[in-house]
Amino acid sequence: MTATLPDRPAIVHDRVATLAAATAVVRGNWGGAYTVPATGLYPHQWSWDSAFIAIGLRHLSPRRAQLELDSLLSSQWADGRLPQIVYDARRDDDYAPSAAFWGSADLPGSPPVPTTGLIQPPVHAWAVWLVHAHEPAESARRGFLERAYPRLVAWHRYLRERRAAQDGLAAVVHPWESGTDNSPLWDDALARVPGTPRAPIERPDLQHADASERPSNKEYGKYFWLAERYRDHGCSDADPDHPFVVNDPTTNALWARAELALADIAEALGRDGAAHRAEAARIVAAMEALWDADLEVYVALDRRTGELVRKATVGGLMALLLPADVLPPGRADALLRTAQGPRFLDVDGAAPQFMAPSYDATAPDLDPALYWRGPAWFNMMWLLLEGLRTHGLDARAEKYVDPMVEAAVREGFPEYVNPWTGDGHGTRSFSWTAALTVDLLSRTVFPEAPAGPEENERA
Ligand code: SER
Repeated sequence: MTATLPDRPAIVHDRVATLAAATAVVRGNWGGAYTVPATGLYPHQWSWDSAFIAIGLRHLSPRRAQLELDSLLSSQWADGRLPQIVYDARRDDDYAPSAAFWGSADLPGSPPVPTTGLIQPPVHAWAVWLVHAHEPAESARRGFLERAYPRLVAWHRYLRERRAAQDGLAAVVHPWESGTDNSPLWDDALARVPGTPRAPIERPDLQHADASERPSNKEYGKYFWLAERYRDHGCSDADPDHPFVVNDPTTNALWARAELALADIAEALGRDGAAHRAEAARIVAAMEALWDADLEVYVALDRRTGELVRKATVGGLMALLLPADVLPPGRADALLRTAQGPRFLDVDGAAPQFMAPSYDATAPDLDPALYWRGPAWFNMMWLLLEGLRTHGLDARAEKYVDPMVEAAVREGFPEYVNPWTGDGHGTRSFSWTAALTVDLLSRTVFPEAPAGPEENERA
């Protein structure tokens, strides 16, 4: 097909072929109980990756999508945390920091499998709900929600009691926890973190992605120092002088959205969902502390200085995932203005775009090829499209499906892309890029089609 929108990049992919190619990537990265984000760069299970992967996987194999989430939930700590990484011991030399670095078996309350002590953004309850809602009968037959619900409740309780005790907003204690490692939001807080870990810094990641597209060695020194410090305090969240404590807009908006999903799950199980809806409203109210009225976007708050980090990132738009009646009056309109304005989608601009950049397109320090400092990411764009749909802009969201899918398929499902040229960066055959492509195509191109060839496959 050819481009139908004069202000959009040329669209040359064939949707059927793209769906097949994306399916092959998702299947190829399946490891037996979960999907690795990428076989070389990320050879273990990652927390929020699994959630996004399950959202695509539900179209291919509802059972496999359940197993993806079940396996993560079964790696929960006694305090409720869901770990950022669940390690495959067979691959422990292939990624740093390794399972041996964390030594989680020696930490109280850790699960039987080796994990990090860190967390990632809490999108899981929503993913569980979407997997369930896609095939409710199969979900009910296997008791998927009954199994997941208490674990998800414990996960959110961990966020509230251990990460949000001070101000009601979940804090992240390491850039890795935000999922947006080298975002400009963390620069100032990282400036006071020493870059001198005791362990030598290992960079196996550089065998799989160009150094110019990954965080720097300087940043890695700080990442390792912070990870050592958190680990050496028993991953207990009881270190009053931990130097990196930040409220991340993405984490908190997804937490609120996930509480609404928990309400839906509770109600599907015949329970009362009101407490979860109240909790979502409470989080949204607490997020007022992150609102930047000039940028019209949610920003980060550095808990150690009390200062707002006044930079616009795509994560600052994620409150669009909350319905207008959950947000403060006028807030949805303001967020929609920012999302569609020159900082992100620039819908009235002269330059065609494939996707929204991860960082303010008008910022002088944007780098369109450097990880979370400018490139477009497929999970964030998928969330942004969901946000547009949440506020009735379905037609606008539809217009971005083909450009986004084009950017995904033309270079083999890259980890992230230049939002303006579509050039791929990072690793390739990246699972959530492919899985979210499967989701978009399955939902919007073949809405009436049956599930794919694995429909009846035993997971
Ligand atoms: N994103 C981190 C990495 O690049 C891990 O969560 O390794």
